Amino acid sequence: MEISKNTILITGGTSGFGLEFACQLLNLDNTVIITGRNQSKLDEVKKHFPKVHVFKSDVSDPKAIIQLYEEVVKQFPDLNILINNAGEMRKINLHDTSIDLEDITREIDINLSGPIRMVHQFLPHLKTKKTAAILNVTSALVLVPFPTSPIYGATKSGLRSYTRSLRVQLKYTSVKVFELIAPGANTPLIDKFTDDLDSKYLMQPDKLVGVAIKGMQSGKFEIYPGISSVVRIMSRLAPNLIFNQLAKNVTAAFLGSKSI
Ligand SMILES: NC(=O)c1ccc[n+]([C@@H]2O[C@H](COP(=O)([O-])OP(=O)(O)OC[C@H]3O[C@@H](n4cnc5c(N)ncnc54)[C@H](OP(=O)(O)O)[C@@H]3O)[C@@H](O)[C@H]2O)c1
Repeated sequence: MEISKNTILITGGTSGFGLEFACQLLNLDNTVIITGRNQSKLDEVKKHFPKVHVFKSDVSDPKAIIQLYEEVVKQFPDLNILINNAGEMRKINLHDTSIDLEDITREIDINLSGPIRMVHQFLPHLKTKKTAAILNVTSALVLVPFPTSPIYGATKSGLRSYTRSLRVQLKYTSVKVFELIAPGANTPLIDKFTDDLDSKYLMQPDKLVGVAIKGMQSGKFEIYPGISSVVRIMSRLAPNLIFNQLAKNVTAAFLGSKSI
């Protein structure tokens, strides 16, 4: 599809991939709208990129999604692309009894319920457009679980499953459904994982987002940048190889400890 002269809403656009998407899509002559929870981070983006439109909105809050929809569609009736990017990744020790029942599922609200609710709210509007798209950001961890972050992996696998079903259900509409199966990359999200991941395998966000945009332009519905494509092949040829390696780290870090 043509990636210029669109009106694009990106959730979580104040850092990492979201901010990189905002910059590159702006350079391609699109109208770009971003969200985030932190007003000062939104103000900072606005200061550096005055053309980006910013809205404070928490993707894990259904009421905030309704409000966002009403404001965005009123101000930007041409909105035709939604990028579900906002996400959180935590180390979770499943032995840790200090994590309460609400908190243990926090990533589900953000990474899985968030995109599902965003699509549910914005889809009728997107369907009215001649060309439209939804891009959901999943992870190479849909191909191999990362036991250090068990809830995160579950959310991304759930989002992948939902995205594939959504693509089928929207087959006869104008809305194309893309999935970005992102590999580990140098963003603030990964800062907590420096001990768990080898930095030489991390991709630069500008390169990764460049691959994602090219994928959308060429109609590649599942986009595997960098090492994601290797993990994809490895997960078929030797399903447990990478998993066993990742499991070693979690065993060392969590066994015998109550919290991390
Ligand atoms: N970096 C990686 O290695 C990697 C690999 C695979 C997949 N991913 C996925 O890529 C996406 C972007 O991650 P990133 O690495 O760019 O992370 P990041 O730099 O931490 O950025 C996350 C963005 O999401 C926003 N956000 C977080 N929770 C939100 C919420 N509830 N509502 C609205 N906005 C929210 C953050 O802003 P506020 O905190 O101000 O709200 C921020 O703008 C995520 O879905 C992540 O799971 C990342």
